[in-house]
Amino acid sequence: MARKPMMAGNWKMNNTIAEAVVLAQEISNHYEKEWPEHVDVVVCPPYVDLKPVKTVFDFDKAKVSVAAQNVYWEPAGAFTGEVSVPMLKEIGCTHCIVGHSERRELFGETNEDVNRKVKALVAGGIAPIVCVGESLAVRDAGTTDEYVCAQVRAALAGLDAADMAGAVIAYEPIWAIGTGRTATPEQAEAVCAAIRATLAELFGGEVAEDARVLYGGSMNPGNVEALVVQPDIDGGLVGGASLKAESFVQLIEACL
Ligand code: PGA
Repeated sequence: MARKPMMAGNWKMNNTIAEAVVLAQEISNHYEKEWPEHVDVVVCPPYVDLKPVKTVFDFDKAKVSVAAQNVYWEPAGAFTGEVSVPMLKEIGCTHCIVGHSERRELFGETNEDVNRKVKALVAGGIAPIVCVGESLAVRDAGTTDEYVCAQVRAALAGLDAADMAGAVIAYEPIWAIGTGRTATPEQAEAVCAAIRATLAELFGGEVAEDARVLYGGSMNPGNVEALVVQPDIDGGLVGGASLKAESFVQLIEACL
């Protein structure tokens, strides 16, 4: 891994404020000063937990970044239930997940929505973690690379090379999320390499070399090493295994 890896914990809709503070404190208790040098550590709690979790890490001077799981593209206004980029910025979020397959499937998020969110984040100085990934039907049809790379193109439409500074792509095959069925390192590497080739086509070789491409989908302490050792996999976006400090810390340490 020539690039600095990233290990991002996607807590999804788990942890009340009280629970989130406990988990953040447990992660902070394991905090090692070498982490920031060798791996960017990010946690993505629910909106209401963002500020309390950030406060725990700040108090302990633990360099763990805090990211949101979603955002709306308008800066303010009559959008009941939504949260804007300036709101996340004020909390101190460095990153924001966009286009997670659960949002696409359960909440009808389209490629166009994802693109609007990515643009709003970039304009507001928050790095997007853009999620892409195929269903089992697409994989079985043999069109995974085309499908996933089309999602990448759609998400990043209208951006230029400068906008890509800090941007992260997370390859998450839908059939591997929360199922315990991980993509093999070879399967994951092949798609991550195709994503990087697409970034090179869109923005040039330098952007493609610098951009981090993460794998997500049942990553755990038992399979992490074989995945992150792949040349085009720069870390993970992790759900289940990020909900316990002990396993999350093992994932971080696998990137050292
Ligand atoms: P999982 O989730 O690690 O629980 O499979 C990954 C994700 O959805 O980001």
